[in-house]
Amino acid sequence: MTSFPDMRLRRVRELEPVRSLIRETQLSASNFIYPLFVTHGEGVKQPIEPMPGNFQLSLDMLEEEISEVVDLGIPAVLLFGLPEEKDPVGSGAYDPEGIIQEAIRVIKQTAPNLMVVGDVCLCEYTDHGHCGVIENQRIDNDQTLELLARTALAQVQAGADMVAPSAMMDGQVRAIRETLDANGEETVPVMGYAAKYASAFYGPFRVAADSTPQFGDRRSYQMDPANRRMAMREIESDIAEGADIVMVKPALAYLDVIKTARDRFDHPMAAYNVSGEFSMVKGAARQGWIDEKMVTLELLTAIRRAGADIIISYHAKEVARWLRGDE
Ligand code: PBG
Repeated sequence: MTSFPDMRLRRVRELEPVRSLIRETQLSASNFIYPLFVTHGEGVKQPIEPMPGNFQLSLDMLEEEISEVVDLGIPAVLLFGLPEEKDPVGSGAYDPEGIIQEAIRVIKQTAPNLMVVGDVCLCEYTDHGHCGVIENQRIDNDQTLELLARTALAQVQAGADMVAPSAMMDGQVRAIRETLDANGEETVPVMGYAAKYASAFYGPFRVAADSTPQFGDRRSYQMDPANRRMAMREIESDIAEGADIVMVKPALAYLDVIKTARDRFDHPMAAYNVSGEFSMVKGAARQGWIDEKMVTLELLTAIRRAGADIIISYHAKEVARWLRGDE
């Protein structure tokens, strides 16, 4: 006599409408933040080689890109700057006329309703490429705090809707929160790069943002990839300092961290699908070894399934097109 299965899980997989009705995780353009690299000069739209489809753009070239982002229904951009000159203290980051401040003004003129998020860090502006100021060959935490706070304030005063400190200095969220509040900017949220790992996946970004450290590495401030419990302490401390949104970065190699954080904290959470994760997909797709669209949608769905509300991704524009049915 034939024995029949007790459970027929395939029943709810037979028809697409049923699959769609019971899908647990959704991906939508409205979940994404798209990073932009703004550079000095004029008429510059320089392709970033390891990050196909992404460019370093000068101020006069921003409008076209911004209109595209808006048309695709992506709600926010995250800005990184390539200043004309660098110095030991990263002055370009907090100069009211600095590249990011200028870019914010241009974007707000073009698209007042597009959310502009400023990445708050010094590494693109320091001649040594570290995220903080150097004192006796070490990255000095507390001197850096003041400069990060000034950077955040300069961005907000130029029109940024949110600031995202990524330097991994202890106390950076509090320093920024206090400075914003003291200057009447108490309604501007802070998205803390709370659990940011010292990751080799940032390689292509450092080409894009010209922010490779000139000596040593970032392991004295960014987290050890081996640690998950430490990430919970980082997130806890960002929340205690007043972060409104917390981030895990990178995303794909750290899905367990996202998931654990989701279970522990009720704050909105972002995950940064970083440059190296993007480049790996692009590279394999260009070889014809994987189906870029299917693989990308699967990976980004996994980041949402792990618990991220927001995904910061270089794939955002393509995803928005795929989701609305373009090929
Ligand atoms: C700046 C910063 C980095 C990234 C985002 N902000 C580089 C770094 O820490 O070296 C990496 C993003 C990416 O790889 O896409 N501190």
